[in-house]
Amino acid sequence: MQVKAFRWMGDRLLLLDQRELPAREVWLELKDYRQVASAIKGMAVRGAPAIGCVAAYGFLLGVRAGEPPSLVFETLKNTRPTAYNLFWALNRLWRALEEGRDIEKEALSIEEEDYRANRRMGEIGQELIPKGARVLTHCNTGALATAGWGTALGVIRSAHLSGKEVFVWVDETRPYLQGSRLTAWELLKEGIPHKVITDSTAGFLMRKGLVDCVVVGADRITRDYFVANKIGTYALSVLAKAHRIPFYVVAPSSTFDPNSYGEESISIEERSQEEVKRVKDTPVAPEGSPALHLAFDITPPENITAIISEKGIIWPSRQGG
Ligand code: MRU
Repeated sequence: MQVKAFRWMGDRLLLLDQRELPAREVWLELKDYRQVASAIKGMAVRGAPAIGCVAAYGFLLGVRAGEPPSLVFETLKNTRPTAYNLFWALNRLWRALEEGRDIEKEALSIEEEDYRANRRMGEIGQELIPKGARVLTHCNTGALATAGWGTALGVIRSAHLSGKEVFVWVDETRPYLQGSRLTAWELLKEGIPHKVITDSTAGFLMRKGLVDCVVVGADRITRDYFVANKIGTYALSVLAKAHRIPFYVVAPSSTFDPNSYGEESISIEERSQEEVKRVKDTPVAPEGSPALHLAFDITPPENITAIISEKGIIWPSRQGG
């Protein structure tokens, strides 16, 4: 069954509220670009490609309502700083508007192109997955994070469909639990064998020879192949390298930022410390203890075996960064 994170209805956007999963499937109905901006900021929708698609529809809603396009653009742009797809999608809509093209058509194309890119990455990437592989993944990179199918999870899904009999270790992904709440939910729906693990379990599983490859997504990739992705990805890349396990990144070309070079060029989102100190409403740290919540980290090219996009495979560590 195909999971959808959002549906454009022609005059409004329906959004599956990912904060409520896996307990409840709640759909939000968004008619105003400000609601779209707060849905992105508040993580009702998340995952770089999905954020891009949804921001495009937000821009359309705002411009159609007669709001100043630059205000709509800035409001949506200032929601989350790391995922490049957000800026890429908004720039596409802005250009279409400037050139007098149909911006609804442009937003729809962004969604369609992303779905096609995911399917293509699945085909290309699954070639790298051996039969019977035990794959470790982090965060959620599935249909919920994209226009459908998924990036890293799309590769896993394609490998499963081609009869590779894959098994997935799902990092829970503190603090938002995108792994245990969302990836496990998608895998269960697809009937793909998996087990949820705490983030700190990965290293020991690798040492015991229970992980054949690591497959993750990306939020931004620089020109020299530094990869920003969910916090914890860098640690996994170091562990994979130490255990000589292939480390694959899967991302569409809309995640590649042609204007950034080197890790310092990436802006890392810092979110509220309350998200670390509480799980839902339950405190998991003393009220008086401060916490640090970096939402992403950066993996250097020398730790990456391959980056898979819809255009093909890049081997960053073979290119000397
Ligand atoms: O904070 P999130 O949930 O938006 O972070 C998502 C990730 O880090 C994903 O790995 C990334 O966006 C790639 S999703 C196809």
